[in-house]
Amino acid sequence: MIKISPSILSCDYSKMGEEFENMKKCGADWLHIDVMDGHFVPNITLGAPLVKCLRKCSDLVFDCHLMISDPKKYIPDFIKAGADLICFHVECDSPIDETLDLIRESGKIAALAVKPGTPVEAVYPYLDKLGMVLVMTVEPGFGGQSFMADMMDKIVALRAECAKRGLDIDVQVDGGISLETVEAAAKAGANVLVAGSAIFGSEDPTKTIAELRSKAAKYF
Ligand code: DX5
Ligand code: ZN
Repeated sequence: MIKISPSILSCDYSKMGEEFENMKKCGADWLHIDVMDGHFVPNITLGAPLVKCLRKCSDLVFDCHLMISDPKKYIPDFIKAGADLICFHVECDSPIDETLDLIRESGKIAALAVKPGTPVEAVYPYLDKLGMVLVMTVEPGFGGQSFMADMMDKIVALRAECAKRGLDIDVQVDGGISLETVEAAAKAGANVLVAGSAIFGSEDPTKTIAELRSKAAKYF
């Protein structure tokens, strides 16, 4: 099933609550919340206290993308704040299995992300524990970068591995997704599409979300 997850990195931070409410009206399925610590990536965004406040503004799935060096330390805070899905990077410094177990024990969806330079095979040892894998199509840290089409092979390989093991998990793509690039991602096998600048920079986000969905749906 196709899910459109607008990245709130590109929203107007002075009226975040309204932006969150509005995204549901525009047809979004999830909300992609980019958490950056200024250490794992060269940018700082927001933390669990803000997520807790924003929880009052939306009942959409909170898809929290943690671009932080030590996710294990902060998992309890994000769970308490109301995250539904917690995705962290396989390149982080925390023990991967223990961090995944912490998320899963709380009943939340656990996910792993890979940066462009990391082979997707890095997540294979953990596939049984994952509800989703995120294949980054830009270097994490900033919105508005160009889509890296050469990451599509990773998505194809990941889908093949999941099929081999009889696993049906979500595959998310994040970075540079737009009306021009969404079909390539969906064709490769990505069904959860994150888009920041393409949605928040659009004159008509409702139309953009509908178009992203229909272009991707051709392949599912
Ligand atoms: C980048 C973030 C993305 C980003 C995507 O590190 O993980 O979620 O907001 O932005 P766009 O869609 O503008 O490339
Ligand atoms: Zn993201």
